Amino acid sequence: MTFNPLQERGIPIEKQLRNWSELNVKPYDKESVHPYSRCRGILMNGIEVEAIIFSHSMARNLLDPDVKKQLAMVRRIEQQQQKAINWLIPGDESTIEVTLGYEQVAVDMTAWVAQHEPAPYLRQVYEFGLLEDFDHLYRYANLYEMLEGKKAEQIISDLTEITPGRPTIFEHRHPHDEVRRPMTALAADPQSILNALMVMSAEQQTMNFYMTIGNRYMEPLARATYQEIGMIEEQHVTHYESILDPTASWFENLLFHEYNECWLYYSFMQEEPDPRVKALYELHLNMEIEHLRIACELMREVEKRDPEALLPAAVGEPMSFRENRKYVRQVLAEQVDLTAKDSEFVPIADVPDDDRYFAYQRAVNGKWSPTEEVIRANTEKQGREYRLEVEGPNPVEGLRPEKERKKASTEYAKRSVVKHDPKAAPWTEPS
Ligand SMILES: [Fe+2]
Ligand SMILES: [Fe+2]
Ligand SMILES: [Fe+2]
Ligand SMILES: [Fe+2]
Repeated sequence: MTFNPLQERGIPIEKQLRNWSELNVKPYDKESVHPYSRCRGILMNGIEVEAIIFSHSMARNLLDPDVKKQLAMVRRIEQQQQKAINWLIPGDESTIEVTLGYEQVAVDMTAWVAQHEPAPYLRQVYEFGLLEDFDHLYRYANLYEMLEGKKAEQIISDLTEITPGRPTIFEHRHPHDEVRRPMTALAADPQSILNALMVMSAEQQTMNFYMTIGNRYMEPLARATYQEIGMIEEQHVTHYESILDPTASWFENLLFHEYNECWLYYSFMQEEPDPRVKALYELHLNMEIEHLRIACELMREVEKRDPEALLPAAVGEPMSFRENRKYVRQVLAEQVDLTAKDSEFVPIADVPDDDRYFAYQRAVNGKWSPTEEVIRANTEKQGREYRLEVEGPNPVEGLRPEKERKKASTEYAKRSVVKHDPKAAPWTEPS
């Protein structure tokens, strides 16, 4: 079955407005929601937020008031869609529970993309980022147990494992080493563009979320953990946005944003088990088909280009949240010791001591790393750290709990310039 949103008829834009009671959806039940249902909602919220922010940026860079008005109309609908999706999250799901969902999205979305990415360099970009968010899940799961005394598997189930990835402390790299090689939109497989837009939007939402809610804790270690991981999400947005074609015009970008929304709602409408949410995705798809039509029209009018020549004849394979445990383990075993140098990925063992990587590590880590401390503190409290290893011990011996490994350590640990001191203060007086 093929689906081409260009050939479908959507809901006319003037009929898309919905009233407050329609938008104020009844939240899901946090006890019974499927973990991947939560993930789909988190991802679609990120997609809508990007649609809105992108449309605002575009409007600020255009002169023509008629185009601005069309953008404003579509953007108002994107805002309404964002409200309907994000308000599915119930108030009794705590911020850290939502956070666990965000990192599960990052792991299983990026794993899907890496396995469906035609370009080898871009596949490497995804596998590199995957191991970092995978580690965040482990850090937050320990923070969750420490703060609420609960196990992260109650939220994410055992679909995604919880064990160290590339340790967060070593993920901090100089900004110049986060800028990747861009694809060329005209030469790229359209799937590569959609993959990049999706992952960039999700990472951007994660960055914004941690920027906003990381200070909502009393516990100093929780505040610090959100800060440290939040800075990695900044790196991730830089990493993923830099693979997109920077020469694509505003109108071309708008076209792909709307196409991406069509692809994702089409995908999730098929696999969503909650009939209420499924119906919402179907409704939004019918709205997006119209947004896409408007984007096509704008491109024809303003740029005199044919949008159909840029888009595929049908959407590709539907995006899907599914279990990737073995795949993630394989990437972890093979790539844990990679770091980034300019736009390439190299083993940490090959990086000279005077490299900017180590200078950056010294500058930010100092003597204390919240994401190390959170594991130490939770171990102290529970008598063991929290892990959920369904397929066996961590595939990297150096990432197993200290008692369970002989001597092995990772290449990263050997090169570490930081000695974590648990007594170092998590607070500094403002100076
Ligand atoms: Fe939308
Ligand atoms: Fe993350
Ligand atoms: Fe991330
Ligand atoms: Fe849209």
